Amino acid sequence: EMSEQERAFQDRIDRGEKIEPKEWMPEGYRKTLIRQIGQHAHSEIVGQLPEGNWITRAPTLERKAILLAKVQDEAGHGLYLYSAAETLGVSRDELLELLHNGKMKYSSIFNYPTLNWADIGTVGWLVDGAAIMNQVQLQKTSYGPYSRAMIRICKEESFHQRQGYDILLKMCLQGTAEQKEMAQDAMNRFWYPALMMFGPSDKDSVHSAQSMQWKIKINTNDELRQKFVDQTVPQAEYLGLTIPDANLKWNEEKGGYDFSEPDWDEFFEVINGNGPCNAERMEARVTAWEDGAWFRDGLMAHAKKQEARRAS
Ligand code: ACO
Repeated sequence: EMSEQERAFQDRIDRGEKIEPKEWMPEGYRKTLIRQIGQHAHSEIVGQLPEGNWITRAPTLERKAILLAKVQDEAGHGLYLYSAAETLGVSRDELLELLHNGKMKYSSIFNYPTLNWADIGTVGWLVDGAAIMNQVQLQKTSYGPYSRAMIRICKEESFHQRQGYDILLKMCLQGTAEQKEMAQDAMNRFWYPALMMFGPSDKDSVHSAQSMQWKIKINTNDELRQKFVDQTVPQAEYLGLTIPDANLKWNEEKGGYDFSEPDWDEFFEVINGNGPCNAERMEARVTAWEDGAWFRDGLMAHAKKQEARRAS
């Protein structure tokens, strides 16, 4: 059973107190946070790849400036999160190594390709929309640095979602028939992968029970998936897009939509490295890391020189 120290820790959590970096915490709590925050940080920077791919092909100067700013924001989110993880005693270099050698995960969604401009709108709308749905509750997470990072990230994330929806408003309400078709095609490809972002169904979620007891997670995967569907359906209707699910139906009794589950076999394939773009994403990350070695070396050499100067 729980030790006295663990009991006291759980009492603090139950009272809604935040846990701060240098305070005592169970090893499992620390490990779970490093896993979740690290995976979250990796998702932010790997998430730059599918959209970064479209910066040079944005249709107007304005769209290009917006997309550039958004993709830069994602790098910033990665930095806040790596910094939050570092307060738990793991370095950013260690985390990146675990990403690069495949021992740590990043969000499944970024292993799908972005094929056309409507995909960029859809990623902003659905992917950032799902990300916010998950992150709003994480603002209340029990670990102080993670919770504070989430507050800032959520503000920026809502701008990201709106820029995506705005692309689709233009294509669907003012665009040509072909543009509307592109938007529907993007919707057809991204709907189920977006639902997968919330993780496996509750019965298959290995970490949820403990993470919720520690208030690392506030809601279950299925609760957030349901909220996301309920929020998204009217937005799709406004755009005149059809959600690719014949079973989607308002359920008066539960006050939410009934909907089809994603293909969980596909989900597990993707998180185990076998999705459409896993190899490409990892190659891009590892190449960027290797290409940056000369710069990191230069920074270290400069810091050493400065330190030697101060010492003399
Ligand atoms: N993509 C990749 N891996 C996933 C996903 C997903 N969408 N969902 C679950 N997993 C993994 C879990 O990491 C876990 O694997 P592990 O034990 O090897 O780490 C396994 O599947 C089982 O899932 P759960 O027990 O449900 O895991 P957990 O309690 O961590 O819940 C969740 C998953 C909801 C993603 C949680 O980790 C979380 O809220 N993370 C923070 C948010 C986040 O990472 N967002 C990134 C995408 S948004 C963006 O970056 C724009």
